[in-house]
Amino acid sequence: MNASADKKRVAVLISGRGSNMKALVEASRASDYPAEITTVISNRPGAAGLAWAGQQGIDAVAVDHKAYPDRAAFDEKLGETLAAANVDIVVLAGFMRLMTAPLVERWKGRMINIHPSLLPLFPGLDTHARAIASGMKVAGCTVHFVTAEMDVGPIIAQAAVPIVPDDTPDTLAERIITVEHRIYPEAVRWVAQGSVRFDTAATAFYGRVNHQDHLLSPS
Ligand code: GRF
Repeated sequence: MNASADKKRVAVLISGRGSNMKALVEASRASDYPAEITTVISNRPGAAGLAWAGQQGIDAVAVDHKAYPDRAAFDEKLGETLAAANVDIVVLAGFMRLMTAPLVERWKGRMINIHPSLLPLFPGLDTHARAIASGMKVAGCTVHFVTAEMDVGPIIAQAAVPIVPDDTPDTLAERIITVEHRIYPEAVRWVAQGSVRFDTAATAFYGRVNHQDHLLSPS
């Protein structure tokens, strides 16, 4: 898909249903949104989100990790695909592959991820179950720049939700995903307009953003 000249071109990488990708596509339809989702890439050819993206007229590309002998070979193909797509920003949205350092380094400051916990708490898998087991009363999600270490890069934005009695990983995940859909388009907006930048390995640099918007909290 051809992005308008004044909009950043964005590739969204998914592995599954792609509800965050859909939220980004919906947000990007606003004329004043500074980014356009031009490409969706999935490492799983059968991902539901990939079919949906194709139906929207977005370039929908499968790069099947099973077709490559190792992570380096897969990442090389992924890197080539991103280069061919001529994108400015790479957005990971439920992309279930660890990336090798060269690919991460090439996209430093231009690749972001969303994780369904209040990082640095509960990185990695089974995050909702671990949040519940911790006894914490608050959970949430975090948008961050991607660095070589998983779920560790500079935090751009976070949203909080309550953990309630009888929560299961599924009920908590449902509550968190609704705020993911709100905060991810906002974070992509900031990165696209250059108001948030990668600063150091631990911090993001902020220009003109409304700092109230960094945190969505329970009403
Ligand atoms: C989200 O919870 C996201 O935070 C995590 O994977 C899930 C993807 O969901 N990284 P979806 O495919 O966007 O619906």
